[in-house]
Amino acid sequence: MSGGRDRCAIVLDVGDLDAAMRMALPLAPWFAIAKVGVELYAESGPACFDALHDAGFKVFADMKLYDIPNTVARAARVYGRRGVEFLNFHAVGGVTMLQAGIDAYHEGARDAGHAAPVALGVTVLTSERDAGAAGDRLAIARDAGCEGVVCSAFEAQDAHALGLRSMVPGIRRSGDHAGDQARVATPGDAIRRGADWLVVGRTVTAAADPEAAAAAVVAEVDAALTPVPG
Ligand code: C5P
Repeated sequence: MSGGRDRCAIVLDVGDLDAAMRMALPLAPWFAIAKVGVELYAESGPACFDALHDAGFKVFADMKLYDIPNTVARAARVYGRRGVEFLNFHAVGGVTMLQAGIDAYHEGARDAGHAAPVALGVTVLTSERDAGAAGDRLAIARDAGCEGVVCSAFEAQDAHALGLRSMVPGIRRSGDHAGDQARVATPGDAIRRGADWLVVGRTVTAAADPEAAAAAVVAEVDAALTPVPG
């Protein structure tokens, strides 16, 4: 995989599309991926996917789908058709639910002529202190055919061992408040622990100077990706 920018997703946890674009556009030099959560989606609907695609971002729809298999499949197919590059499902929903969602997501993307998307299983929320269920959820994600998982930096290596890629939230620059997150890591540490992509939220968006914070995060990621000579 390529450099820091391609691995970093900016979290657009805001209430409307104008605010999301005001936040995202100045940060485009450091983020190839924009993460849409339920707040922004509830307000703007799929228009946010089009606006972010038009601005050159890949889109991660952080919808954490969890329902009966038929319902999950019907929703996932729509996200695929809309060209959403990353979509997640709660692994606690089980193999049958995940398989239904992943298959429909891929079918939707294929039918609309989009590249194959990335289906992610959410293992244990990074706001939970106890990650005891992570091993079981990783196995469910692997058995269902997920391309990767959303997990903390501390489970990234376990994910890799099962052939899964990892999208890692709970990223904090050194000295930043964890807030409601429990299992946090710095950008460099997350990469060194094997994270493929980083979900970068308040450590940048709530910083006094978000662009400077973004540059610092991506510089840290790039440094962690660069092999030490000798
Ligand atoms: O601001 P902060 O860095 O805490 O934002 C993290 C983002 O990642 C939030 O939008 C949150 O919903 C999301 N997320 C998470 N843990 C997961 C999955 C998604 O924190 N397991």
